[in-house]
Amino acid sequence: MTRPLHPTALVTGANRGIGRAIAAALKARGCAVTLAARNEAEGRKAAADLGVTFARIDLSDPDSYFDAVTTTGGFDILVNNAGILNDASLLSPKSDFDLAMEVMVNAPLDLIRLNVPHWRDTGWGRIVNLSSGWGAHAQGLQGPGAYGIAKAALNALTRALPRDLPAGVKINACDPGWVATRIGGSGAPLTPEQGADTPIWLALLPDDGPTGGFFRNRQPIGW
Ligand SMILES: NC(=O)c1ccc[n+]([C@@H]2O[C@H](COP(=O)([O-])OP(=O)(O)OC[C@H]3O[C@@H](n4cnc5c(N)ncnc54)[C@H](OP(=O)(O)O)[C@@H]3O)[C@@H](O)[C@H]2O)c1
Repeated sequence: MTRPLHPTALVTGANRGIGRAIAAALKARGCAVTLAARNEAEGRKAAADLGVTFARIDLSDPDSYFDAVTTTGGFDILVNNAGILNDASLLSPKSDFDLAMEVMVNAPLDLIRLNVPHWRDTGWGRIVNLSSGWGAHAQGLQGPGAYGIAKAALNALTRALPRDLPAGVKINACDPGWVATRIGGSGAPLTPEQGADTPIWLALLPDDGPTGGFFRNRQPIGW
């Protein structure tokens, strides 16, 4: 099937930063966007500002995202954007290893699984995983603490899942660049809108577009 005229899209962690910019841009391109956030007040305000639907999703609480997907019947586009960055050593008791894996690996995979029945019905889907060069073996897995490990695992999912996904569903990962957000810090050179460019391109890829790839500035990069 070709792309629906108004694809439905779920963007996680979209109350601010790159996720919010992705939600705004997808809406501007005709998508019916659901902006997900764990903080209800912030998420509702962001959704109202953008004129999109809100869903409360805390990725460390599977019940919250199970409800959000099953009550809607699923989404055409899934943007696994939410992320956390904590630089405590993996060897420290302060490491957030389990939480990082939950938010950036387990929950994205669960969301994909929950969406599969919808994609089987429609034959069209796009999954965009917000990863990072810090999770790339090709760049030395430089991400601090659990962050780089979780992004590397998200990359591995992106590479492995095309063989299991229904026909017509594409999955890709991207590094948005160094973006001025809470994770990127105020000194980063890119705006959230600039960081959103590659994720938006991947979310609306044509049928002959790539799948199972890793991109920055719309160009393939090494794993
Ligand atoms: N900024 C960069 O330079 C850069 C570079 C490479 C990759 N990335 C990736 O880009 C993505 C977006 O990051 P950003 O730069 O826009 O950072 P950000 O402004 O800190 O946004 C992160 C988002 O993730 C949400 N989040 C965290 N834990 C969550 C949970 N348990 N459940 C649901 N949402 C949760 C945050 O919600 P709260 O507001 O409630 O905390 C926030 O909405 C991340 O995956 C990040 O790793 C960013």
